[in-house]
Amino acid sequence: MDRRDALRLLTVPAIAPALGVFDFGPPREAADALQPARAVPDVELTLTAAPSEVALLPGAPTRVWRYTASVVRGPASTVQPLPGSYLGPVLHFRRGQKVRVRFENRLPEPSIVHWHGLDVPEAADGHPRLAVDGGRDYVYDFEVVNRAGTYWYHPHPHMRTGAQAYQGLAGVIVVTDPEDDALGLPAGDDALVLVLQDRRFDAKNQLVYANGGTMPGGMGRGGGMGRGGGMGGGMGQMMETMNGWLGDRLFVSGAPRPARSLERRAYRVRLLNGSNARIYKLAWSDGTPFTILGGDGGLLERARVRPFLTLAPGQRADVLLDASVKAAGTAFTLRSVAFPADAVGHVGMMGELSPLPQGSAADLMSFTVRGGPAASLTLPARLCTPPAAWAVSDRAPIRRVPLTFMRMEWLIGGRTFDMADAAPDETVAPGSTHIWEFRNEPNPMGMAMAHPIHVHGTQFRVLSRSGAAANALSEGISDTRATDTVLVLPGETVRVQITFSTYPGLYLYHCHILEHEDMGMMRNFRISAPARG
Ligand code: C2O
Ligand code: CU
Ligand code: CU
Repeated sequence: MDRRDALRLLTVPAIAPALGVFDFGPPREAADALQPARAVPDVELTLTAAPSEVALLPGAPTRVWRYTASVVRGPASTVQPLPGSYLGPVLHFRRGQKVRVRFENRLPEPSIVHWHGLDVPEAADGHPRLAVDGGRDYVYDFEVVNRAGTYWYHPHPHMRTGAQAYQGLAGVIVVTDPEDDALGLPAGDDALVLVLQDRRFDAKNQLVYANGGTMPGGMGRGGGMGRGGGMGGGMGQMMETMNGWLGDRLFVSGAPRPARSLERRAYRVRLLNGSNARIYKLAWSDGTPFTILGGDGGLLERARVRPFLTLAPGQRADVLLDASVKAAGTAFTLRSVAFPADAVGHVGMMGELSPLPQGSAADLMSFTVRGGPAASLTLPARLCTPPAAWAVSDRAPIRRVPLTFMRMEWLIGGRTFDMADAAPDETVAPGSTHIWEFRNEPNPMGMAMAHPIHVHGTQFRVLSRSGAAANALSEGISDTRATDTVLVLPGETVRVQITFSTYPGLYLYHCHILEHEDMGMMRNFRISAPARG
């Protein structure tokens, strides 16, 4: 039995205890990590990834890959399907819940699910080395220890994250807790979950992705870099992939430019940028500024008001949409406003090649306000009591992490991905606090790109940005003290203070432009095991 077979065995919970008798290295670690969580969970779900079809555009349906879920144990409201969307259901968890998910991979290739933003044990984090083949299952056990907030789930297989997410595999996780409940913010029908994505289609309404032509017919046969894809799509597509794959049609929660009517009251809007590479500079078309309630890791201490909201791939924001102050009949849109493509940057001599380049103006969703009496909302002055972990540490060691482009490769910390290893400077003690300084350095040709840098299993604090003049995206950036993905603009140095998870093991940090991640702009870090007494 080779290591891969051993990993597969792990996916059958009934025999997992038997794994204790084997000694396979990584699988053994994973098995150990799974053991203690075998208690009866509060919530148990089956999450299936499988090919499907959805009517997205007039004419032929689009072949997609989609997550579906069902509740085996616990509240039926845990799973909220999005009918007509290619997205997976919204999963509603309570802080403190013990969750078990049986992931059923029914795709024609390996996959694994990652719970973006959640602090979970190593075996539950969806590391690519734990990917299971089509037809196999993988069982996750974790406790929801995160604050209330908006998180999400998506695939994380080696070099195929971009292709699989683009096919439709993604979904939102909403975590609630008593502190959030007590604020009385809009909920139920007055809470919207909006996932912003872009896609490209061929004449037959099928998705088109980098170098592979149409998917899913081309899946695994030229889809994506590094998997036999080579130059199938030509030099232009290869350069587009280097810059991150952009669609020319925008979708909100799986629908092209949806419309929604609003009562004259306040709505809580949870935004997720679920795009592979597109950065949005969001605005309300009627000039209303954004009232920002929270970011990746939950609510801010106080709401902040900003004219724009820059949302990079992987990031979330919680905003208030107050329709109580608008006249009946008012129509407006949520849009991404134009910004110079330079604010994102690119590599290659040909400039931006995509049909809808970064920084293009586009409407995302339309709203109209209905008649009727207005019900206004007074926001609480304080949205949360800041957790102790948010305080600035004056003794955290500082590590420099350059983000660079060399010899046609994106590097993070001067290296590319290595499945099994973490370097000494990537090894930290459980629960320890470090400052990592992401330095977005131009290459010798003077070219650099904006990179949304994501660290698994933690919410970190953005301490500072320096080194580059503010550009058109800076004015919308809402840095917080609980972030898991931070946008580092070309030339910029962003310092963050990270308190790592207390769970030991191998975790990932990477650029959340999924093509950069798949090309190797990703590394492991190791949370060392506590010394055993
Ligand atoms: Cu959202 Cu490692 O990813
Ligand atoms: Cu993540
Ligand atoms: Cu990047």
